[in-house]
Amino acid sequence: MKTELLSCTDDLTGSIDRAAALIRQGEVVAIPTETVYGLGADGLNPIATGKIYEAKGRPSDNPLILHIADRSQLEMIAETNHPMLEALISAFWPGPLTLVLPKKEVVPPTSTGGLDTVAVRMPKHAIALEIIRKAGVPIAAPSANTSGKPSPTQAKHVAEDLSGRIAAIVDAGPCTVGVESTVLDLTQEIPVVLRPGGVTSDQIEAVIGTLGNTNADISKHSPGTRYRHYCPNAEVVIINQSSDFDTALFEIKKVAWIGAHPPRGAKKVFELTTAEDYAREIFNALRICDAGGIEIIVVEEISDAGIGAAVMDRLRRAAGKI
Ligand code: TXA
Ligand code: MG
Repeated sequence: MKTELLSCTDDLTGSIDRAAALIRQGEVVAIPTETVYGLGADGLNPIATGKIYEAKGRPSDNPLILHIADRSQLEMIAETNHPMLEALISAFWPGPLTLVLPKKEVVPPTSTGGLDTVAVRMPKHAIALEIIRKAGVPIAAPSANTSGKPSPTQAKHVAEDLSGRIAAIVDAGPCTVGVESTVLDLTQEIPVVLRPGGVTSDQIEAVIGTLGNTNADISKHSPGTRYRHYCPNAEVVIINQSSDFDTALFEIKKVAWIGAHPPRGAKKVFELTTAEDYAREIFNALRICDAGGIEIIVVEEISDAGIGAAVMDRLRRAAGKI
């Protein structure tokens, strides 16, 4: 299959129309969101979502997020009687918060990995919202990478992994947040974060009060957390302080350095300081390291505060520590 590249600078309306038409026809199209690029298909069509799993090589019991553009689509696919739902929606949608709710009949089990719940989010990205509106269906979209690889934050990352395997890629430039949405389980009275992401726990607690304990048997609720994720070919090593690192290794291995205090001698350096910078750049950095044949990627740890929690979650997984 030849993958169409749909530019948003040359012909925005034409690209949006084409993407929506392909999705209506049951094809798979990579679409931009504020977090990472998503691999979109008609979330109510099992044949279309089957193509997502096939293109990514994703285990079929790992459920998808359904992306919606307005409130009526939420009513169509999920039960909306959780007492905290309205406050969460008005505070965080559109935005990087995914809500897990009891699903309605119309959502096929193939979109939810057989679960009776569905994950829903309204992305904060004008082009994504327009594609969803024009497609006229909720769009199921996991991150648009080969399963296990770092998530894509630019259209070229999607092309690296999936060119020839999907109908089209909509290129809207780099994603602004850079790590995926926060997944919040609303199927119990006290909500629990299943995956830290673009909306921080502090922000959520400021709206609805104290969250439940995330460690409570999380893989039961978030099947995705069982699998290996975000892994570059190189080995990822997380360090507390740059002084903990023996630079003699630079002589024998191709080492890249990510962080605020790069010592001399690393083959590649990504000077990142704030948690927001880490979030925006981290997946791109891991991919550049792979392209450059880097053997070891050293990353300076950052605080788990704010979006740092999502960044460190992804890095610990990339390092095989979770
Ligand atoms: O920011 C994002 O969330 C991106 C963009 C494209 O929207 N999407 C994304 O999708 O990261 P994915 O498939 O890579 O991650 C979805 C996560 C997985 O950990 C999955 O297990 C969890 O959400 N999930 C989906 N449906 C669920 C459900 N019904 N119950 C519990 N967890 C669910
Ligand atoms: Mg993913």
